[in-house]
Amino acid sequence: MLQAKQTPPESITPEAPRKGIDLTLNGEHFRHTGDPKMTLLWYLRDVLHLTGTKYGCDSDQCGACTVMIDGKRALACETPMAKLAGSEVTTVEGLAGENGGLHPLQQAWIDEDAILCGYCQPGQLMAAAALLKIKPNPSDADIESLPNICRCGSYVRVRRAIKRAAKAMQGDA
Ligand code: FES
Ligand code: FES
Repeated sequence: MLQAKQTPPESITPEAPRKGIDLTLNGEHFRHTGDPKMTLLWYLRDVLHLTGTKYGCDSDQCGACTVMIDGKRALACETPMAKLAGSEVTTVEGLAGENGGLHPLQQAWIDEDAILCGYCQPGQLMAAAALLKIKPNPSDADIESLPNICRCGSYVRVRRAIKRAAKAMQGDA
């Protein structure tokens, strides 16, 4: 059956830009147009499918969801999207160099065999990255003050890996 010929509209009105929360994530611009109360953890995992940031407790207890916000350690499970306008968020997916080379912490994690089951390790890496920004040569106490929990008991290996990465970042490895 012949279809009636469709005539295009004389003018097409462009859709108004959607309002939202603009942020930079791993160097790229994103706009969250959903619920401002959604936490960063679920924005990363459910909206962007960036599942490196882990869900452990959703209540500020385990550190599995650790990311950096404006270069500082932060818990994604405790951070509503509403607080992130204009912020720079780095997740474990953004830790490697621009050319895809491993971050010294990632290399040190491998060299020290710090990854056991692995579940807590993205959070451990991001907590370590934030620590090295403020303490390039951290003491045992600095490292032990990190609140990240590891059920596999990788703490000694993580400590060695952070120290190894600190040396490498100072050109001393
Ligand atoms: S999931 Fe965020 S602290 Fe445990
Ligand atoms: S490596 Fe298994 S929970 Fe930390």
